Amino acid sequence: MRTLRVALPERAYDIHIGHNLLGRADLLAKSLVSQRAVIVSNEVVAPLYLDKIAAPLRKAGVHVTEIVLPDGEASKRWETLNTIFDALLADRCDRTTTVIALGGGVIGDLAGFGAATYQRGVPFIQVPTTLLAQVDSSVGGKTGINHPRGKNMIGAFWQPKLVLADTDTLRTLPARELSAGLAEVIKYGLIRDLPFLEWLESNIDKLIARDADALSYAIERSCANKAEVVARDERETAKDGGRALLNLGHTFGHAIETGVGYGEWLHGEAVAVGMVMATELSRRLGWLGTADVNRVRDLLARAGLPVVGAPLGADRYLDLMAHDKKVLAGRLRLVLLQHLGAAVTYADASTADIRASIHACCA
Ligand code: NAD
Ligand code: GLY
Repeated sequence: MRTLRVALPERAYDIHIGHNLLGRADLLAKSLVSQRAVIVSNEVVAPLYLDKIAAPLRKAGVHVTEIVLPDGEASKRWETLNTIFDALLADRCDRTTTVIALGGGVIGDLAGFGAATYQRGVPFIQVPTTLLAQVDSSVGGKTGINHPRGKNMIGAFWQPKLVLADTDTLRTLPARELSAGLAEVIKYGLIRDLPFLEWLESNIDKLIARDADALSYAIERSCANKAEVVARDERETAKDGGRALLNLGHTFGHAIETGVGYGEWLHGEAVAVGMVMATELSRRLGWLGTADVNRVRDLLARAGLPVVGAPLGADRYLDLMAHDKKVLAGRLRLVLLQHLGAAVTYADASTADIRASIHACCA
């Protein structure tokens, strides 16, 4: 097991990464504030893994409640959140009850927002079971749900007390989901870690083949990058980009997710195409060359990801992007690349260039 720390002054926590961690009630128990826990999972993950966590906890004397939600991005919404509150209230959970999210990013975001708001906030633990959740969504405390008008529009910052990433769970992950996680892994290389990007170019085939050592290394390096960014700019308020840089490709990608309907495209797939669009726009601004754009597109394609956008039409993209959280005082702030391995936020791209970049990346 390897342990990284998210060094937030008042909310620091560990990320444990390794094999066979689900049954480590000892690791979980250290982060519980009472003998009460609620495990939130979904109908796909629960049959595979819920008992692996619940049984040892019960054996250790913890009263465990189970909440099993419907699967999928479309369930990341208000009505599902309310079923979490119903269950917490029905079981008379108090403020010392710890909510444990067992699943991918959808469960982490839903359960985390539930924990942030139930009785004004209860302790929370992330047990991510997708690659995307192990490298990104379980770390950093962003929680929330979608609104029909926009992705992740309702939410809260609520840091977990612990992240327990059991890499064995990736064995049952569908190939398409593994690729979606690789989009966020590649993102770290593009925005701030050129040596990691080069490592990914040499090792992408091993990652696709689920080589255990390669996956562990990629998860650790991704989490180290994320932990560093979050520790410096927890609430995404830094003027120099800070945490906002983690959103490379997301403004374009969220437009795809919302535009085609939640759950049609996987989040990582939409981010992959969004990163191609951001790279193309960076080329139009004179910051990258054509060879750089091709290099990014090739790596994403080798990771099994789409590199051509949904045919929504540039106007619809622009309309959806105008609702993004990165719009400040009416100006769209995009994350772009000055070089491979160096991202910036930029609010001065012309609509014509944004439109042309979208157009160039759609069929
Ligand atoms: P997901 O949670 O929908 O999981 C993908 C699929 O894999 C689901 O069908 C799930 O049931 C299944 N699954 C999960 N673990 C499995 C396993 N071990 N074996 C077999 N099947 C398994 O999707 P995701 O890609 O993990 O997360 C995407 C979500 O995360 C999006 O809603 C996105 O907005 C959010 N996100 C949040 C943050 C954040 O910082 N909070 C960051 C990135 C993404
Ligand atoms: N996934 C972007 C962030 O956590 O800030």
